[in-house]
Amino acid sequence: MSDRWYEKAVIYCLDVDTFADSNGDGCGDFRGLMGRLDYLSRLGVTCIWLNPIHPTPNRDDGYDVSDFYNVDPRFGNLGDFAELLHQAGNRGIKVIIDLVVNHTSDQHPWFQSARESPDSPYRDWFVWSETAPSDRHQGMVFPGEQATTWTKDRKAGLWYYHRFYKFQPDLNINNPEVREEIKKICSFWLQLGVAGFRMDAVPFIIEQTEPGNPDSPKDLDFLSDLRQHVQWRKGDTVLLAEANVEPAELTKFFSDAGGSSSRIHMLFDFMLNTRLMLALARENPEGIVDALQDTPKLPDGGQWATFLRNHDEVDLSRLTADQRAEVFAKFGPDENMQLYGRGIRRRLATMLGGDRRHLELAYSLQFSLRGTPVLRYGDEIGMGDDLAQDGRNAIRTPMQWSLLPNGGFSTAKPKDLVRPVISGGDYGFEKVNVTLQRHDPQSLLSWFERMIRTLKECPEVGSGTCKHVDVPVPEGVLVHRADDATGTMVFVHNLCNNPGVVDLSSLAEDAEFPNDVLADQEYAEPGALDKLDVAGYGYRWIRLRRQL
Ligand code: GLC
Repeated sequence: MSDRWYEKAVIYCLDVDTFADSNGDGCGDFRGLMGRLDYLSRLGVTCIWLNPIHPTPNRDDGYDVSDFYNVDPRFGNLGDFAELLHQAGNRGIKVIIDLVVNHTSDQHPWFQSARESPDSPYRDWFVWSETAPSDRHQGMVFPGEQATTWTKDRKAGLWYYHRFYKFQPDLNINNPEVREEIKKICSFWLQLGVAGFRMDAVPFIIEQTEPGNPDSPKDLDFLSDLRQHVQWRKGDTVLLAEANVEPAELTKFFSDAGGSSSRIHMLFDFMLNTRLMLALARENPEGIVDALQDTPKLPDGGQWATFLRNHDEVDLSRLTADQRAEVFAKFGPDENMQLYGRGIRRRLATMLGGDRRHLELAYSLQFSLRGTPVLRYGDEIGMGDDLAQDGRNAIRTPMQWSLLPNGGFSTAKPKDLVRPVISGGDYGFEKVNVTLQRHDPQSLLSWFERMIRTLKECPEVGSGTCKHVDVPVPEGVLVHRADDATGTMVFVHNLCNNPGVVDLSSLAEDAEFPNDVLADQEYAEPGALDKLDVAGYGYRWIRLRRQL
């Protein structure tokens, strides 16, 4: 049986600056987060993924780093960070951090030196062109906010490449010194005690950019090299990559020519995410069935990270235009809810109209499908969004802890907060907060605690196989199963509002003593599995077998 920790993890993603402010300056910090570790522990979180923690001019929420070897002074100092790692470790919680090495901030001393003179030791750390590259109007990640991918730097008199905003110059991966520096950055944080990295923008990190070639070659072998390096420094390090690429490309990110995983351990399952959104919008699971069947088999040790929402917009770019229009119509009908022509800048709770049954259904699906679940802070209490904020900041508002001023996030004056706390209405901190939900056994938070506890008793989810069970079902119902040496679970999810009955008697021979371990309500015992009721938006987790 596999004992890879990441296959059994429950990952919780948070931004330090909006989580908890301990010193009243209006910005969250490490001490604030430390004070909330018991909360995360009770929720059942086993790994925290921190959005960028480094010094930054903060023009892209920290994804524009100006020093890879330090922490943002607003969060505390390196001592506070080391203490956070220790305190999390005491509770059995691992910490992974964002590794943003596709680019730096244009304020990073490396870039400042590089543009200064051709003799700068850092000149060749970035990607330059003497003439205006013909593809400079192609490949923008933020259409509408970003006009080009190459910009002329007046000081250098050269064009520099930036896959993202123009204040994020790309590092030159062709330069061996840059590769060594990336490894050194990983070593530094591993030495401090992080458990791994969420690697930002991996397909772009390995891009060997050639001016004028919008389809530059990619050096995937760098990922093998980096994997070897981090694993040598700390054997159970995990690399979790953001790589939203075509399905045919995916397996290359896990390993070179088959065999065990030798590059990235875990990839965010963007393909499943998009299909989940489509399935929820249509109230029909077909897209999920396709995703389960189409996705390539992963090498041993390769794992998906499943998510419904993250800190960015819901990215619908891999749907057809018609499918995208359907999801927009259902979940983001106003232009103000949409972003970059491809995404939705809302939290799941508002997208599902705050319908508790629908929310439970969605998270029950996410957590029971293949891979390791990733939960974004605040989603466990059904936080909403603030569309008055620019772009993706709509979903980056402070955590709502209590009825205290600023939702208990900070004692600063509201005008000094890093971002306003959502107040008033159905999603304001007055109605949606941790303290209220903690006391209420019926709350969404209590449900999450129960669900995660149950998940931990089902090691076949995450470590085992996940397959669609192809039996006749009422429209809207999905049946899938998870198997490994420890046992078998079967899951029934009803994505639509009409109740249904499912006949799973064909699975009877795999069942020893079938029983519901989690469900949206009390159902009759599964018995012979031939008449399983499932309510509208209902779900049942049924244990078929347990091997001792
Ligand atoms: C990734 C991050 C996003 C950031 C971008 C540039 O896509 O998820 O938030 O803006 O990289 O670093």
